[in-house]
Amino acid sequence: MSLDPNKMLESCRNGQWDVDDFDWTKTPEVELNKTIEMRFCQFYMDQCFIERLAGTLFQALSDRMDDPVLKEIYHWCHLDEIRHSQAAYKLCDYFDVNHYKLYTPNVSLLKLTPHFVNLVKTTHPAVANAMILGGEIILDIALLRAINDSLPDPMSQAVVKKINRDEARHLAMDFFMTEYCAENELRNDGYVSADLFDNADRRGFLRYGPAAFNEVFFRPMAVLDPSGKQMESVMRRLRKLNLRENVKNNPAVKNFNNQAAFFETPFGGWVGWGIRKTYQAVTGVNVDWITAASSDKLNLYDSDDEMIDADRTAVQLAEDIVGETLTTN
Ligand SMILES: [Fe+2]
Ligand SMILES: [Fe+2]
Repeated sequence: MSLDPNKMLESCRNGQWDVDDFDWTKTPEVELNKTIEMRFCQFYMDQCFIERLAGTLFQALSDRMDDPVLKEIYHWCHLDEIRHSQAAYKLCDYFDVNHYKLYTPNVSLLKLTPHFVNLVKTTHPAVANAMILGGEIILDIALLRAINDSLPDPMSQAVVKKINRDEARHLAMDFFMTEYCAENELRNDGYVSADLFDNADRRGFLRYGPAAFNEVFFRPMAVLDPSGKQMESVMRRLRKLNLRENVKNNPAVKNFNNQAAFFETPFGGWVGWGIRKTYQAVTGVNVDWITAASSDKLNLYDSDDEMIDADRTAVQLAEDIVGETLTTN
């Protein structure tokens, strides 16, 4: 296994910080026009709730772990996400210089929340872990990086840097657990099923999830990354991670690979095309970046920062993505 849980636990304990370590009486050093101020305030308001949803996933994993070290690591990850939520809330107020409107969380995200929370309590730990991994890769490779790059404000960048240090630990645990679930039978209070419609909360997830994810992830990314290059990178990375030999027995990885294989058949290709075009017609957001993960394109896009080598440790994979150094190995 490519990570020492005892060292990770030590890193979790030592890596704690407080939102009030920052001076929130300061005002932004960047001047933002009305559109940009409103965009970033809304992003951080939504982020406040996204972080809490990530927290529920870590809490669910902590509850499922029999190993006391892993249980405590996930307890700290949950607390990290609560802190990120508090930081996002404060960043919303920090950038709300002109009070153009009252910012409220995205309505679709709120509708999704009860289904999401119920689902993570009953879903298989491998699936819960896959959901965190996917969400954190989208956030850390794409969205948070794009937002931070376009906001050259020392205070907000310092806060995001602190958040990213925590996210590097989370991603290392996500990679570790992906391998762990491939090699170990975990206590499973839930189930793994490829049938998307066999549970009321799965149906709720499917009903509200696309709108929520579109509005809090994909639409902002379409504005910040109009070429879709960063999302293409996310998809290629996820696919490559799931094609590694050492994770192929993970039940969530098997589901992912089976679905990817279906969309690469001639019939599946047409189905995928229809779903993408319908999605674009309904939401106005182009999600063609998803096809960057098709196996015939993977090699074309190889670059150093996307090489997923089976020998790379969970910590190294996390450091590659976040660009921060962890002190656990
Ligand atoms: Fe977070
Ligand atoms: Fe996280």
